Order: sequence, then structure tokens, then C-alpha cells
Amino acid sequence: MQCDFVWCINTCICMFYFVLISLLFREPIQLELLPAQRSLHGRRELLEQACLSHTRKRQVLSPEDLKHLIVDDKHSLIYCYVPKVACTNWKRVLMVLTSDGRYTDPLAIPANEAHVAGNLRTLSEFSVPEINQRLRSYLKFIFVREPFERLVSAYRNKFTRSYNTAFHKRYGTKIIRRHRPDPEPEALEKGNDVSFHEFVQYLVDPRTQREEPFNEHWERVHSLCHPCLIHYDVVGKYETLEPDAQAVLRLAGVEGTLQFPTSGKSTRTDGNMAARFFKHISPFYQKKLFNLYRMDFLLFNYSTPEYLRTR
Ligand SMILES: *[C@@H]1O[C@H](CO)[C@@H](O)[C@H](O)[C@H]1NC(C)=O
Repeated sequence: MQCDFVWCINTCICMFYFVLISLLFREPIQLELLPAQRSLHGRRELLEQACLSHTRKRQVLSPEDLKHLIVDDKHSLIYCYVPKVACTNWKRVLMVLTSDGRYTDPLAIPANEAHVAGNLRTLSEFSVPEINQRLRSYLKFIFVREPFERLVSAYRNKFTRSYNTAFHKRYGTKIIRRHRPDPEPEALEKGNDVSFHEFVQYLVDPRTQREEPFNEHWERVHSLCHPCLIHYDVVGKYETLEPDAQAVLRLAGVEGTLQFPTSGKSTRTDGNMAARFFKHISPFYQKKLFNLYRMDFLLFNYSTPEYLRTR
């Protein structure tokens, strides 16, 4: 969406977006740098450099693009949630922080309750001036993960667990119909035995994104959280979850009141999960998949995996 001539017929709306965008480019909150936070600062600078070299700045955000940004007005926090990057636990923490004492222990909140829409407010629910005010003054943070580890984690969680029937029906049946030659009728109907290779074929098929946006579990962080337009104060990493989460809680001024739950049940990978799954993917598809997730690698300083055979 751009403020081109035709679009500007409604000048008023255009002005609003102009204001929104100009505010997005303001200076981020200055952090006082404890030694442990210096690496966080470095990450943010690297992100800004990567944005400068790899994106064109003509993009404009609308409130609709801010659905993943969770707001805590009490502590002036904005958290962009990325599925498969400890987001259940972050949502639990934010529920504790915004609950006025109703919850005190994040782990006492059932995982499914943390994901109920409406339990937490998102930035997209606010008016444009309210959005601007929050983006300008709140502590904004995001947690990211090595893109292919995240992708494999999403695949395992959504397609290899028998209880995830909603995903099997919604995506599995379609993937099998399109990408499996000669499927069994049962597989076609249930969609519960999608292979990683079939999942990869689905992701890189141009029809997939033409028909609808990726599901948030495999959508790129770049598209979910707009890290080149929104200046996140902290870029936390799943690989260093505990210290990074602690740094956020410290900056939010709630370090003493609660602990980030790091031992919750989740699809843990050991940092080599992706290598095992990619062994069975041809160089042709590896290359296509890498191009698809390239921005997430670049923006968050993840190096090209050594197991890839893309040359
Ligand atoms: C980026 O990644 C490299 C290699 O892993 C690392 O040495 C460097 O410290 C990272 N830079 C930042 C700013 O995190």
C-alpha cells in the first residue's frame, strides 16, 4: 500500500498514515547499557543496518498490520509475538502483568488460555493516535529464533502430533492433495501424515501465498512484526532465552515480581533438528526455502546453515 495519487483522494486518511510512519522512524528508547545488555544493543544496531541495506522504505503500515503486537498499558510494554519462539510463556507473563493481581504465577495459566483472543490487547485495536503514542513511548520487544529451527519446530508440532487435527484438516489435506502423487483416500481425508518434504513443497509453491497469507506458525518474522518499520528496543533470541527474558523484565521494571518460565513444556529442539530434517530435502528446494526465509536470516544475524546444499 502506498500513498500514491489515487490513494490520496482521501487526504485525511493519508495524513494519518503519514503521521504514523513518521513516528515509527523516531529515535528508539535509549537503554542504559549493563554489560549483559550490550549484546542486545549490538543486535538492534545490526538489525537497523540490515534493514537499510535490504529493504526499500516505501512501505506503510496500517492498524491491521499490528495484530501481533501485544500491549501492556500498565507497564508500557509492546511485545510482538512470534509462534514457536516461547510465545506462550510471554503471553502468560503479559497476562500476569496486565491482570491486576488475578494471576500471579505465569505457569498457573493454561496454555490454551494464553492464546484466547481477547485475553490480551493488541495494538491493532487502538486508534491511530493511540497507536502512535504507544509506539513512541513504550518499551518494544520481540523474540526471534534461527528460522529453520523455528520452521522445523512448527512442522513437528502441527503435522506430527496426532492431536492437532485442526491443522491436519485445514492444511494437511490441501498439502497432500497438491503435493503427493497418488495419495491414499484416508490420507486425503485426514491430512495427518504430511512429510517435511511435502510441507516444504507447499511453502515454496507460488500458489500458496497467492491464495492466502502463510499461517502465523510458518510466516516470517519480517512479515509478522515489521522489524524494519517498528524500532524494537530489544531483540531477544530463543537461543539465549533466559538472560534475554530477564533483561526485558528488568527493563520493564518487574524483575522482582515474576520470573520468566523457562521450563514449560514445549517442542524443544537441540539446535540440530533442522539439519536432520533438511538431509532429505533436495538442493533445489533447499535453495527456494532459503530464499523464502532469507530476510529473517539477514535481519537477525543468523548465518546460512552449513548443512544447506544450495550451490
Ligand atoms: C552476529 O553473528 C556473528 C556470528 O555468529 C557474531 O560473532 C556476532 O557477534 C553477531 N553480531 C551481533 C551484533 O549479535
